[in-house]
Amino acid sequence: MHILVTGGAGYIGSHVVKQLLEDTDNTVTILDNLSTGHDETIKSLEDIFTDNKRGNRSFNFIQADLADFVNIDKIFSENDFDALIHFAASIVVPESVENPLKYYMNNTVNTTNIINMCVKHGVAKMIFSSTAAVYGDAKEIPVKETTAKAPINPYGWSKLMSEQVITDTCNAHDNFDAVILRYFNVAGADTQNRIGQSFPNATHLIKVAAQTALGSRDKMSLFGEDYETKDGTCERDYIHVDDLASAHLKALVYLEKEDKVSPDIFNVGYGHGFSVAEVINTMKEVSGVDFQVDKEPRRMGDPAILISDNSKTKKVLHWEPKFDDIKLICQTALAWEKSIS
Ligand SMILES: NC(=O)c1ccc[n+]([C@@H]2O[C@H](COP(=O)([O-])OP(=O)(O)OC[C@H]3O[C@@H](n4cnc5c(N)ncnc54)[C@H](O)[C@@H]3O)[C@@H](O)[C@H]2O)c1
Repeated sequence: MHILVTGGAGYIGSHVVKQLLEDTDNTVTILDNLSTGHDETIKSLEDIFTDNKRGNRSFNFIQADLADFVNIDKIFSENDFDALIHFAASIVVPESVENPLKYYMNNTVNTTNIINMCVKHGVAKMIFSSTAAVYGDAKEIPVKETTAKAPINPYGWSKLMSEQVITDTCNAHDNFDAVILRYFNVAGADTQNRIGQSFPNATHLIKVAAQTALGSRDKMSLFGEDYETKDGTCERDYIHVDDLASAHLKALVYLEKEDKVSPDIFNVGYGHGFSVAEVINTMKEVSGVDFQVDKEPRRMGDPAILISDNSKTKKVLHWEPKFDDIKLICQTALAWEKSIS
């Protein structure tokens, strides 16, 4: 297959491309505007492609913006894509509250356009990066795919609206099938330290803890110690990025099946969680640095617990995680942070 990967120069997209290059015979084209993705990541992926070169498959990078509809149409005309894996998006929740239109334009409008391109140019398969943010303050824990969806910020809404566009398009077009993956808290980096999360202003807890351990931040904040959880701090389902990436390869196989449901939706997490305090302590342990953590009041909009029910993903996609180990997640995040700081 020739697979178009939007956002492949970013954190999660690059780990999926790495696995496509290492473990499959697919040709990959990355489309990215490098707004938060990196040239360096593309170079690392080129090296991985060269190391794993076989057959006459190829690896291409196109620097383009999804908002440039004329150019995107041209790119689809010039390439014979078989499948789309769509990562490109804006992903910072507080920014989405301050600037919602950026999120509706980049996430919902540009996703709608690229789906339109798939239908127009006969690209029959799509995998979409969705998020646990569509559940908002989830009504049941663990969260099932059928749990009520109630986003609490524009980021979550922009993704849920994109899901709706995908659903309606699948229902209306027999030759367009999709899998929607709802990611929980993605963390860690390639165990060989070739790629990782490079976005300097990332707000993810494990990345921030790694930056604090390495001294690129003086201290970090812990928001809220009075939640109804095991130690009073919020609990989240942290998943290693390579386990998340492997779910995409399983989803590609699933999309080839005759008896699939389309669109089908899967939660991707480990099904158990760690508290913020536990994560910080693990980072202190693996780094050997007792860094400063300031205890602050609760932040608006942080649910106490967000943990996936991943039983459908395991059963239907035959997905089996390999890196379900919070120490390993923290170690790989720390090693990556060290290599870029
Ligand atoms: N990181 C997480 O914890 C998490 C959790 C749930 C869902 N997701 C979803 O996963 C996807 C990837 O997230 P990530 O963490 O890798 O983020 P990222 O910022 O590292 O990657 C996004 C990539 O998309 C590119 N991009 C953004 N807008 C574009 C545009 N208009 N045209 C072309 N390229 C564009 C960026 O340059 C970047 O390379 C997103 O859709 C996000 O909503 C991420």
